Amino acid sequence: MTHVPVLVERMIEALAPVDGAVVLDGTYGGGGYSRAVLAVANCTVLAVDRDPDAMERAWAHAGRDPRLAPAPGRFGELDAIARASGHETVDGVMLDLGVSSFQIDEAGRGFSFMREGPLDMRMEKRGPSAADAVNRLTEAELADIFHFLGEEPKARRLARSLVHRRKTQSFTTTLDLANFIEGALGGRHGKRTHPATRAFQGLRMFVNDETGELVKALLAAERVLKAGGRLVVVTFHSIEDRIVKNFLRARSGHSPGVSRHTPDAPAGAAPSFEVLQRKAIEPSEEESDANPRARSARLRWALRTDAPAWGGQVEDALRLPGLRQLEGVA
Ligand SMILES: C[S@@+](CC[C@H](N)C(=O)[O-])C[C@H]1O[C@@H](n2cnc3c(N)ncnc32)[C@H](O)[C@@H]1O
Repeated sequence: MTHVPVLVERMIEALAPVDGAVVLDGTYGGGGYSRAVLAVANCTVLAVDRDPDAMERAWAHAGRDPRLAPAPGRFGELDAIARASGHETVDGVMLDLGVSSFQIDEAGRGFSFMREGPLDMRMEKRGPSAADAVNRLTEAELADIFHFLGEEPKARRLARSLVHRRKTQSFTTTLDLANFIEGALGGRHGKRTHPATRAFQGLRMFVNDETGELVKALLAAERVLKAGGRLVVVTFHSIEDRIVKNFLRARSGHSPGVSRHTPDAPAGAAPSFEVLQRKAIEPSEEESDANPRARSARLRWALRTDAPAWGGQVEDALRLPGLRQLEGVA
């Protein structure tokens, strides 16, 4: 089992790590990005991941290379994690969003619609699971998850069918749900992607509050990066790419209006980031052919200026309409 990192050379070019730097890898996963940084610079890498299995790999890695410092937690709190590791500021923050192949390939984690396992999908292995979401949310909430996060065109129809079925039998396993979705959406009709792909993605993003975590991480990176420090983010979903793009546009003074995804600028605030490359970097055809997971990847990066952080909260407006967290429901 392994994870092939996406856009790794482009990430190194954007991050440009130098000897003596402190770099925070917010998504350690299989350690591909961390290893790439340590291969080009004699620096310190803080290895953050919310998945205990990923942190086990980070500890093993740290045993071989003391320049790697494991720092478990969520990247939404990356500034607090850096401080707890003894760093008030850092020179670089890198985020490679989504799930790792380790997570997908392990049937027991319940991320895959191709492998029988519990309907789980929790990166952190605690809190409400995908089964809690499917069996307990309202029809309207499920429809929003499939529509906004899964980008499933038949979201409402699917939510209605799920709610009807769970009245007699709740969903507990991945294949039961995947097969049910395939039936509810009318089968595969020779399509390459499984009909459950979008719904599973939406559920995974919801269970792990992935868009909320991303917004928090951008705000935390703004607080913790030193002037001249670099933020590099690789996304795999158009919603996430839009969040990063809008945040960097607003923070670099290029936002034509107030973005739904970023708090308003404080009056007279100077740009806190400089964006040198406006267009997202995409993988080459060769990379996409060799690694299908790379196809939807988009890399954006920016330089932290010396202006104060604009600050802001993850406001309610940043939550997707109609979604509420499952805390207290499970
Ligand atoms: C695509 S993988 C990263 C792969 C890594 N760059 C590599 O080269 O091996 C994403 C990782 O981010 C972790 N992750 C996702 N959301 C997180 C969050 N909010 N906080 C910390 N880790 C998170 C996942 O557990 C997963 O291990």
